[in-house]
Amino acid sequence: MKTLIVYYSHSGTTRRLAELIAKETGGDLLELVPETAYPGDYNTVVAQAKRELQSGFRPALKTALPDLSAYDMVFVGTPNWWSSPAPPVLTFLEQADIKGVQIAPFCTHGGGGSGHIRRDMEKAGRGAAILPELSVYGGSGKAADIQKWLKKISFTK
Ligand SMILES: Cc1cc2nc3c(=O)[nH]c(=O)nc-3n(C[C@H](O)[C@H](O)[C@H](O)COP(=O)(O)O)c2cc1C
Repeated sequence: MKTLIVYYSHSGTTRRLAELIAKETGGDLLELVPETAYPGDYNTVVAQAKRELQSGFRPALKTALPDLSAYDMVFVGTPNWWSSPAPPVLTFLEQADIKGVQIAPFCTHGGGGSGHIRRDMEKAGRGAAILPELSVYGGSGKAADIQKWLKKISFTK
């Protein structure tokens, strides 16, 4: 299996989970970097994220879109932002050629679980197969949780 782990992370928690998944799967890592970075201040980014999600804004990405046809499985990770994927992840799902690609979603959150992240990814993914998600509270993800999830989604190296 050729595996890619694509993620956006604002403060590093989802990045660490992505790195753990890369370790367990042997996949390539790709960070989604928006052209304009989100503000570091918590209240400012929370207000901006709300506006963007409500208006359907899709930020341009600095990251070049990968050729997904080279991969059997694409893991897509995001922080939970207002129960939704962060907008850079929606840009990726809408712009990349993901037809027929198997997508395994993962998220980190501050207590709200995965919200409607999977549903939103399904909508943005236009017919890509979206597998059951891994949802992790903050930085509490352990290798054992990842292994259990990989088994559930029938991932094999
Ligand atoms: C803009 C914004 C909105 C958030 N909305 C939620 C939310 O609705 N529910 C929740 O559980 N956590 C929410 N959080 C917390 C993040 O999901 C959590 O801290 C996550 O692990 C951060 O990941 P990161 O370090 O990869 O950016 C929000 C954080 C930010 C910055």
